[in-house]
Amino acid sequence: MKNLLNQIAEIKIVPVIKIDNAADAAPLAKALIAGGLPVAEVTFRTEAAEEAIREMKKFPEMLVGAGTITSVEQAKKACDAGAVFLVTAGFNRAVTEFAVENNIPIFPGVCTPTEIMYLLEYNLPVAKFFPAEQYGGLSTIKALSGPFPNMKFMPTGGISDKNILDYLANPQIIACGGSWMVKDSLINNHQFDEIQRLAADAVQLVK
Ligand code: 3PG
Repeated sequence: MKNLLNQIAEIKIVPVIKIDNAADAAPLAKALIAGGLPVAEVTFRTEAAEEAIREMKKFPEMLVGAGTITSVEQAKKACDAGAVFLVTAGFNRAVTEFAVENNIPIFPGVCTPTEIMYLLEYNLPVAKFFPAEQYGGLSTIKALSGPFPNMKFMPTGGISDKNILDYLANPQIIACGGSWMVKDSLINNHQFDEIQRLAADAVQLVK
């Protein structure tokens, strides 16, 4: 887990991807790699997610995880496809236990102190704070950091090139998730050059 956390903390941005057509996964991975952002949270919001993970895993430099996992069945499918980390929008005990038992890094979604305390039961070091902007953004993370000084956060939801630097300036935030460089419309319209440009801009911004 530590190694993966270090890698994510170094990259600082996790593109959150909703992919409708698995055939788009390879050009998308190429665009992200070329843009210097070789990481993806492929969300299980579409039928294509599992196959997309398999396709992206063909690029050895890509760090591919699965997001929006809501069941152990999906978690197993994601891991069989090659996902090296799991993300959930909220806290799901069964999925969390599956990940912990199998040594798969997991970032469960939280937005309250109670949910953070669930993560502490499993010694999980990083929570996805979701949906970040809607739940008070940085000021909520600062307030949560008081009682939970050792918890790290990966805020996601409403984060973009406009506000990411404010988030990343907080020492308890290891990285931010976001879809601004991989919007569904860009993927569906095969605007992979634009994805590469937005990814490169994002990398430059957080350097
Ligand atoms: C997520 O699932 O993490 C969000 O949909 C990503 O949020 P964003 O689209 O506001 O970046």
